[in-house]
Amino acid sequence: MDANRPAIETFLKQNQEADLLRFTTAGSVDDGKSTLIGRLLYEANGLYEDQLAAVRKDSQKFKREELDLSLVMDGLKAEREQGITIDVAYRHLSTPKRHFIIADTPGHEQYTRNMATGASTADLAIILIDARQGVLVQSRRHTFISSLLGIRHMVFAINKMDLVNYSEEVFRKIQDDLESFVEKLSVPDLTYIPISALMGDNVVQRSGRMPWYEGPSLLNFLENVRILSDRNLIDLRLPVQYALRPDREFRGYCGCVVSGIIRRGDPILVLPSQRKTKVKTILTEEGETSYAFSSQAVTVTLEDEIDITRGDMLVHPANLPGIRREIDAILVWMDHEVMKPGKLYLIKHTTQLVKGTVTRLHFRINPESLSREKTSKLKLNEIGRVTMQLYREIFCDEYTKNRQTGSFIMIDPMTHGTVAAGMIIERGRLPAMVKPDEKGEVKSSFIHRQEGTVSSKDREKLLRQKPATLWLTGLSGSGKSSIAFELEKRLMAEGHLCYVLDGDNVRHGLNRDLGFSPGDRSENIRRVAEVAHLFNEAGVFVITAFISPYREDREQARNIIGKDSFLEIYTDAPIEICEKRDPKGLYEKARAGLIPEFTGVNAPYEAPEVPAIHLKTGEESVDLLAERILRHLREQGFLIRG
Ligand code: ADX
Repeated sequence: MDANRPAIETFLKQNQEADLLRFTTAGSVDDGKSTLIGRLLYEANGLYEDQLAAVRKDSQKFKREELDLSLVMDGLKAEREQGITIDVAYRHLSTPKRHFIIADTPGHEQYTRNMATGASTADLAIILIDARQGVLVQSRRHTFISSLLGIRHMVFAINKMDLVNYSEEVFRKIQDDLESFVEKLSVPDLTYIPISALMGDNVVQRSGRMPWYEGPSLLNFLENVRILSDRNLIDLRLPVQYALRPDREFRGYCGCVVSGIIRRGDPILVLPSQRKTKVKTILTEEGETSYAFSSQAVTVTLEDEIDITRGDMLVHPANLPGIRREIDAILVWMDHEVMKPGKLYLIKHTTQLVKGTVTRLHFRINPESLSREKTSKLKLNEIGRVTMQLYREIFCDEYTKNRQTGSFIMIDPMTHGTVAAGMIIERGRLPAMVKPDEKGEVKSSFIHRQEGTVSSKDREKLLRQKPATLWLTGLSGSGKSSIAFELEKRLMAEGHLCYVLDGDNVRHGLNRDLGFSPGDRSENIRRVAEVAHLFNEAGVFVITAFISPYREDREQARNIIGKDSFLEIYTDAPIEICEKRDPKGLYEKARAGLIPEFTGVNAPYEAPEVPAIHLKTGEESVDLLAERILRHLREQGFLIRG
């Protein structure tokens, strides 16, 4: 597909779309946001809103005799833009080089929700900083949210330079502060421009009052920033808005190509039916065309008669989205009423509306420190990581790969108000900038690491082994403990020092204060991982036998222990077999309702996706399984002969 890039860019260039830049502005109170927008609109002489509307009308040339397609397209557009529209005004600005759409969110109370709303479709964000104030908590918040929303271009406009005597020193200090914060985020394009929105310095024209600044003016930068390559032109996703059947002959499917390119003759797979067909014709506002690409509204006809309705998706058969009923997401909570796990919400995802609930709130992200915080609820403007269960499948991608199929909004079914914006993430994976856990931070800053002179190499030599933690995970009754103790026996017989940490045992001592809520299980696993890490440092193998049902907790354990010493071993047996074995009679009690939150019965188990070793414990004997693990250790060089 990459070989096609130049061609694609050429045809994008020929289209006005390439000359459109959507941006958003964020600033704290009194940062001068309205002054800046006013200055841009006024000086660039760009109050073009009406003209633009007129041009749009004029360009609707194509009419099919029996049906007015342009009207259909207009309808589509209106619906498309409905997505998230709380408190955002869109302003248009035009220069000979580009059209700009500015998502202007009210500045008086800089709520996360307004920001998220305006930024969700933006290519670029201008973050205003008052030169006198420097980098405020709010500035960090805006930057974090913009980065979370996948904005690849950020301009820090250091405003009110006139009030600090156009001082280079002030500007550089702010730039340094910002740089140390943004290095934790993954924003590919960062720009710093000193301006005075009030005086007009460096907004439209380069200012003579800051000769030390050699970059472009803000408008000049906005006109030239390259955004073409930000587009996803690879993965075709065409969510169907509706089927158009004006008469017997014509059957078209209307929708917006949210990403990728659709061409006449392309093979097509229809989701969810998985029926295959080919593209017959593609109609756009301008008439029939041989291809259409992301953000164009189209009506397509297909070679075969297939039953397709709103919410279905047309894709290329070799490039499928995820088909999910359970999703992991980052939610930006926008409602005054707190988010309640278990409550029913409506989820609007592309053209689908499905019911769903939040089944787990993993943690809240502190947008200033970027650390995770345990919590049981999300309040207005808070950002959290959740797992959601949907009543029907959606066709989605990770948000970082596709902002359209990777995002959704949540609606309260009673009030019909938008309560959250969501971004879909890969299970167990988080935006890189989010820190592991606030518990991971040392409470006191007066603690320092001490080191002795004996190295891990010395211990390896003494014990003839490269220690590791063999992390067994699986349902209760799946054979974790039996395999762990068998393996311990074998390792010891071969002269290798090891120790078993077992759930039931550890919960009698170190973790006697913990129960089985998601939070307690998480803490259980964290402590065990810390202990395993210490054992490993002492040179000893550790075999752990914990259900450890949450992927994320196991990921945390991997981080604590170190990825090279952590071997995830999945003891996989169907729940029916575990239940039949029921060594402690617990399944029976759980089924009788006597044990709340029992894994597999009324609490979830998230199986490893790619364990280092996958054991089917319902099919092979404990002896054989233990032997397999031992073989793996030998092959991977953990056991040193000698
Ligand atoms: S974990 O989920 O936190 O990893 P762990 O492995 O420590 O669990 O403890 C699981 C053991 O505790 C089970 O083997 C079982 O004997 C016992 N147990 C008691 N209540 C529960 C429960 N609600 N869910 C799972 N196991 C439970």
